[in-house]
Amino acid sequence: MDEYCGLCIKMKTKTVQANRAGCDLILALDMEDKADALALLDKIDNGLNWVKVGLQMFIRWGPKFLNEVASRNYRIFLDLKLHDIPNTVASAIGSLADCPVEMLTLHASGGPEMLAVAKKARDKLSNKPKIIAVTILTSINNAILGEIGLQGPISKRVCAMGEMAVKSGADGLVCSPLELNILRESLGKNPLLITPGIRPSKCKMDDQKRVMNPTDAAKSGSSFIVVGRPILNAMNPHEATLRIREELAQSLNE
Ligand code: C5P
Repeated sequence: MDEYCGLCIKMKTKTVQANRAGCDLILALDMEDKADALALLDKIDNGLNWVKVGLQMFIRWGPKFLNEVASRNYRIFLDLKLHDIPNTVASAIGSLADCPVEMLTLHASGGPEMLAVAKKARDKLSNKPKIIAVTILTSINNAILGEIGLQGPISKRVCAMGEMAVKSGADGLVCSPLELNILRESLGKNPLLITPGIRPSKCKMDDQKRVMNPTDAAKSGSSFIVVGRPILNAMNPHEATLRIREELAQSLNE
């Protein structure tokens, strides 16, 4: 029991209704070459709505790359995982004024003031990207958590961070699919819960440690699953994308 935080303890046994509005796929575009990335997007546009642009591509190709992605009718989840003093984070968000970004990540560990100031800075932008707080990276397990000096278990940390982030104004959270149930129990159906660490069965884990398959993640209440290497390294990325989206659509009927 003591593995869970306040709100979650009371509700731990309740069965959580998954997010019946459905769960969509976000492709993590973790690639080096811009031309390759755009060619891939042109190939798999059949039904894919969202693309995650992360540090690798944003640092190399900058805001112009976002326009190139958006001009192909993709919606952009900008995964910069901002983490700095409140003033610096607010200024960074201000610099995104002309960027076609609909969701933006920050580290929840930046604290309530950073998140609240980020929300205010976001409110000043015309496109008002959703503020998404990253709880504990899915590449971290309990052993690594201890190594960085944080007390586990992970579920307790994630729950406390998630509650704090939502209270401070975050529209959603990034978490491992293994924490979906506990977060839905604690926070209800409203916050967006975005889950990397997704591995269709028979896929390599790579460096991910806390993983789940797309169907189970959708049923557990994920709003969006983020998938990178299982699509990027597939023999046929287009087919891999379609298969995952079909699986998500089917999970709605189960
Ligand atoms: O290739 P893979 O499917 O593991 O990609 C997962 C993506 O999700 C990567 O871009 C990674 O940076 C991101 N991510 C994550 N864990 C988090 C937050 C983001 O794996 N907690």
